[in-house]
Amino acid sequence: MRIEPLCSALGAEVSDIDLSQPLDRETSDALRAAYLEHHLLCFRSDPVTPAEFVRVARIFGEPQRQLIRDEWVDGVEEVSMLNSTYERPEDKPEDMSLVRLTGWHTDDSYFPVPAHSTLLQSIQIPESGGQTSFANTRKAWEDMAEDRKAVFDGLMAVHDYDTIRAPGRPTKLTATEDSETAEVIHPLIRTHEDTGAKAIYYNANRTDRVTGMEREESDALLDEIAEQHTRPQYVYRHEWRVGDLLVWDNRCLVHSVNMDFPVQQSRLHQRMLLKGTVPV
Ligand SMILES: [Fe+2]
Repeated sequence: MRIEPLCSALGAEVSDIDLSQPLDRETSDALRAAYLEHHLLCFRSDPVTPAEFVRVARIFGEPQRQLIRDEWVDGVEEVSMLNSTYERPEDKPEDMSLVRLTGWHTDDSYFPVPAHSTLLQSIQIPESGGQTSFANTRKAWEDMAEDRKAVFDGLMAVHDYDTIRAPGRPTKLTATEDSETAEVIHPLIRTHEDTGAKAIYYNANRTDRVTGMEREESDALLDEIAEQHTRPQYVYRHEWRVGDLLVWDNRCLVHSVNMDFPVQQSRLHQRMLLKGTVPV
């Protein structure tokens, strides 16, 4: 197995590994250590079965059930198939910012206990576009001026399934799904339970406001954090190949999808989420 950094911002590529076979303890330990250091691992692989996918996921944590029922693969509630294909020309908007996946986000932050990690494997990809970009919000936090850190550290923010701060609207939920997504409050700067490192925990699609503030004051602070956390020096842009399996750390990364790709070209990924802890 070889592990090599993808770029200076974040991420490492893992090659010479067969994900269809169980991995030994030493290999799993090395993968976990690399994961905490780089925050994202990219396995160059072939598409794996749901059972193999679950086995890879267990190296990094405990799989959790996914919210949207329609997306479960063969009824396996830990694995969902995400189809972002534009089936008809009218499905693809002129203004890409209206597509929720383009917004910088950390998965699952509208839950009281958000998934700490996401695994995503590409099954089909379009000929152009469709890249996923990641930003290292730990570096973004570490680089902030001390006087600004003093302003932000300790603030709490409300996350909801939707926020008027986001330009586009999310997938409609069923009544059951809606009942599982009340407003929650998380620290705006969170501490990673495994590394002790602080990182910005902001979700452009879900973070609505700082608690205890008028919207105007809250928006000014959230706009500042939004600008800081995705500056180009913190960003890695992933160009998908079929079978690429990514695992990334939602506690210190945000991501965004380039949704500008041709209509009727399939873009399909299978996804898993790993159970997290209450953000502190
Ligand atoms: Fe996402």
